[in-house]
Amino acid sequence: MKTGGKPNILLGVSGGIAAYKACELVRRLRDAGCEVRVVMTRAATAFVTPLTFQALSGQPVRMDLLDAEAESGMDHIALARWADRVVIAPASANLMARLAAGMADDLLTTLCLATEAPLLLAPAMNRVMWAHPATRANTERLLTRGVRMVGPESGSQACGEEGAGRMAEPASILHALLGPGSGSLSGRRVLITAGPTHEPIDPVRFVGNRSSGRMGVALATAARDAGAEVCLVHGPLAVEPPAGVEAVPVETAEAMRVAVLERLDDRDLFIAAAAVADYRPREVAGQKLKKDAPTLTLELIRNPDILAEVASRRPRPFVVGFAAETTDLRGNALAKLARKGLDLIAANDVSAGQGIGRPTNALSVFWQGGERLFPEQPKADLARALIDLITERMERSGADPSTT
Ligand code: PMT
Repeated sequence: MKTGGKPNILLGVSGGIAAYKACELVRRLRDAGCEVRVVMTRAATAFVTPLTFQALSGQPVRMDLLDAEAESGMDHIALARWADRVVIAPASANLMARLAAGMADDLLTTLCLATEAPLLLAPAMNRVMWAHPATRANTERLLTRGVRMVGPESGSQACGEEGAGRMAEPASILHALLGPGSGSLSGRRVLITAGPTHEPIDPVRFVGNRSSGRMGVALATAARDAGAEVCLVHGPLAVEPPAGVEAVPVETAEAMRVAVLERLDDRDLFIAAAAVADYRPREVAGQKLKKDAPTLTLELIRNPDILAEVASRRPRPFVVGFAAETTDLRGNALAKLARKGLDLIAANDVSAGQGIGRPTNALSVFWQGGERLFPEQPKADLARALIDLITERMERSGADPSTT
C-alpha cells in the first residue's frame, strides 16, 4: 500500500450498461485516497471509452494482454502484484462464467488468476440471466473460492424489466471494498427473519399477509455486504434470497420459531423483519373445505412471538424488531420496544399498503433515548442505512453484544 496506507485498487470493467456507474466508483475511490488502475474488457469499451477512465484515474487504461507497448511499462504480472484489492464492476454473466471456469483468455481474467489480492465482484445483468441456474452455480463456485460479492440489487433494469440484477451503487461497492475492517459487520454472525408466514386452513388455503420478503432480503444482502455471516429464515418470498447467505425456507410461524431457535446460539445480531402471522387456525382440515354453507367460521389461536422469545433469552444477541403500524407509529413502536425488551425497533407505516409488498419503504427507528428517521427510498438503500445504524448502536451499547 503506497498512498497514505490506502490500498491500490485494480478496477475491472466488463461489458454492460452499468459500466457508466464504474466512472463514479473511480472518482470515489480516488477521493478516498486510493490509487486506481482500470482494466476493461473489449465489450466494456462499447459502453464507456477508455479515455473516460484514463481521465478519472489519471492512469493509462489497459485492455489487451498482448499489448507490447503496455507490457514494456507495467506488465500484467507486475499489475497483478501491484493490486492490493481487485474489484470488477460491473461483472457480467459472461465474465463471471469465465472466472468460475478459471479461464485466462483476456487481460482481466488473466489478472484475476495472477493476483493474490482479494477479489470483489459487483454483478450486473438482466434478472433472468442472474436467476439462471448456470449463473447461480457460477456464483456459488466463486463464493466458495473466497470471492466476495456486492449486490446485485433489485429494482427497475435498463432493459425495462423489474427484478434482481442491477449493479450495486458505487457507495455500496466502496463500502464493501474499503468499509471499516472491510465491512462493519466483519466476523459477526447475523440471523434475520423475512417474509410472511402462511398458516394453513386446509391443504390449499392459508391465512397470510402481503409481505414480499423484500425488506428482509435487502437486510440480509446489506449485512452480507458488510462482512457478516448471515442466515435468513424466511417465509414464502416474492424475490430470490441473496447468494452467499444461508437461506432457510419455512412456511408457518411455528416452523419459523423452531428454525430461529435452532440457529440462535453464538449470534451477534437478530433482526426480525418477517411479518409473522399473529394467529393460526385452531384446526387444519385434512381435506379441502367445501363451500356448502353460506358462512364459514374459523377459530384462530395465538402464534408464538418469536421476537419476544429471542429477546428474553440470556445470553442473547443484539435484538432488532420491526413494527408494522397503521396508526400512531411512534407510540406503538415505543410500546413494542419496551414490551418485547428490544435494543432497537424499526417502525414502518403500512396503511394503504405502503412499505409492505412494495420495492420502497420509509422507517422511523427508535431505541432507548434516541430515534432516527429514514425517508422513503428503495429497500436496498434503506437496508444499508439501517445496518449502518445498527452497527453504530451495537458498538455504542459497549458490552459484547452476545452477552447483552
Ligand atoms: O416483506 P416486505 O414486503 O418487504 O415488507 C416489509 C415489512 C413491512 C413486512 C417489514 O418492514 C415489517 O414491518 N416487518 C414486521 C411486520 C410485523 O409483523 O410487524 P408487527 O408489528 O406485527 O410485529 C412486531 C415484531 O414482532 C416484528 O419484528 C415481527 O417480526 C415480530 N413478530 C411478530 C409476531 C410474531 N408472532 N412473532 C414475531 O417475531
